[in-house]
Amino acid sequence: MSLINSVTGLLQYSDQLQSVSDTALLDTELLLSFALDVDRTWLKTWPDHKPEAAQIKQFETLFARRLTGEPIAFIIGRQGFWTLDLKVTPGTLIPRPETELLVEIALGLNVPDAARVLDLGTGTGAIALALASERNDWQLTAVDSQIAAVNLAEINRQHCQLDNVSIYQSDWFSQVPGSISAPQYHLIISNPPYIELDDPHLSEGDVRFEPATALVSGHDGLNDLKIVIGQSPRYLRSNGWLLVEHGYQQGAAVRNLFATAGFTAIGTHIDHNDLERLTLGCLPQTD
Ligand SMILES: C[S@@+](CC[C@H](N)C(=O)[O-])C[C@H]1O[C@@H](n2cnc3c(N)ncnc32)[C@H](O)[C@@H]1O
Repeated sequence: MSLINSVTGLLQYSDQLQSVSDTALLDTELLLSFALDVDRTWLKTWPDHKPEAAQIKQFETLFARRLTGEPIAFIIGRQGFWTLDLKVTPGTLIPRPETELLVEIALGLNVPDAARVLDLGTGTGAIALALASERNDWQLTAVDSQIAAVNLAEINRQHCQLDNVSIYQSDWFSQVPGSISAPQYHLIISNPPYIELDDPHLSEGDVRFEPATALVSGHDGLNDLKIVIGQSPRYLRSNGWLLVEHGYQQGAAVRNLFATAGFTAIGTHIDHNDLERLTLGCLPQTD
């Protein structure tokens, strides 16, 4: 019996992906399981299975897209984040595993049980939805300047059946209620764009397929972090926290921005690759 068009045979396509991907076999398994509408375990259980011709054609079409470097998440339209399965589209960033550190740190902060939390630049909704899924007593607001991202985050919110998240369009704080006279939030969290305009990595790998609005932030990558950090104190309650993700070489600059904005207890956390990845600070008691 020929195995060329069997599961095992089709997985051998992965050899062609070696120059495009560090995870060629995994990518091929993901594309084949998507085309066959099965999970990866099924592929291992039924290696001799011969898919229908239409399924093979679909797999080959998906595979050709991956050969151009298009990210797997955009091809299959989904990405896992925290415990959630999120829809993704080319309108915003594919949530990254390192951003889960932001969620982990946020969940450990000393905030009230019924905390009000603001996620700035929510994209797929990843951070806000992960927090909401862990803390159903928290009230989350999530905003993004891009309507495509707002709509996507709302689809994900509904899919995850999370009622404690409100999502709307806002250019950073422009549509966020609350100000110095009535600050609302116990925690503001953000993974804003932070890549430098002329960073050569922008023409490599997955980011080539992601929108500049989600990635790039001026010549030093700090334009958006300056706005988020500079304006957060007006929206944070006393003892409220600001937690941001940033580039691995931006730790010192970001700590300076926190200090200038009046934050205390400023600290930077290192990610699983030993790189400075996120910084947080607490707004001192004012009342
Ligand atoms: C790096 S992505 C992060 C997406 C998501 N929070 C995550 O971690 O996967 C930055 C997000 O900020 C949004 N953004 C960029 N400029 C913005 C602005 N002026 N106001 C609000 N959101 C903005 C982008 O549309 C994008 O969704």
